[in-house]
Amino acid sequence: MDTGHLDPGNVPADPMELFARWLAEARAAGCHEPEAMTLATTGADGAPSARMVLLRGADARGFRFFTNRSSRKGRDLAGDARAALTFYWYPPGRQVRVEGDAGELPRDESEAYFASRPRGHQVGAWASAQGQVIAGRAPLEQAYADAAARFQGGPVALPGYWGGYVVRPRVMEFWEARTDRLHDRVMYLRDGDGWTRSRLSP
Ligand SMILES: Cc1cc2nc3c(=O)[nH]c(=O)nc-3n(C[C@H](O)[C@H](O)[C@H](O)COP(=O)(O)O)c2cc1C
Repeated sequence: MDTGHLDPGNVPADPMELFARWLAEARAAGCHEPEAMTLATTGADGAPSARMVLLRGADARGFRFFTNRSSRKGRDLAGDARAALTFYWYPPGRQVRVEGDAGELPRDESEAYFASRPRGHQVGAWASAQGQVIAGRAPLEQAYADAAARFQGGPVALPGYWGGYVVRPRVMEFWEARTDRLHDRVMYLRDGDGWTRSRLSP
């Protein structure tokens, strides 16, 4: 067993433990925005689409992010909960892939997160019909000014269309760069309450 590198024999039984360690190591290595992840979803016509979102927590429940639920990604997930996430960290040259089902976070959790955001972000959530075609920047800035005026002097309420998701992993794969393209890949597959681990060819 090569204990110095990624190997199914020397990784934690729980992939979330390894994920937390790699995220912390990416941050310590100076990787910019290590919480940025690609989220892939599937539309009603079967076409995939992908975009970046920010990880806002990862634990035994899965990977959390927040967005406008009326957006393309939100509509996709309402029709097909399957989602895929990808992280890439350089340095140190690592990738994590996640596949699983996305479920909506309870409203109180979305409210707590929304309340923690800067006020400008909260107002922006009211101003933007994410993904809709707009005639220019002026209507967006007007919508922002209207929302700011509406909530002036009080807290900004959580819009009904805005909230969080948690992706519960079914498959997770950890990839680490090695020389001569002989990279290390370890795949975890959910198996009842636990996980099985395998090495994949690079
Ligand atoms: C680094 C980065 C982080 C982002 N984080 C988020 C996020 O957490 N939530 C979000 O709704 N959009 C986020 N975005 C914007 C999305 O990539 C995307 O433009 C937007 O959510 C609309 O996607 P959709 O039309 O496919 O639903 C982020 C973009 C970048 C580049």
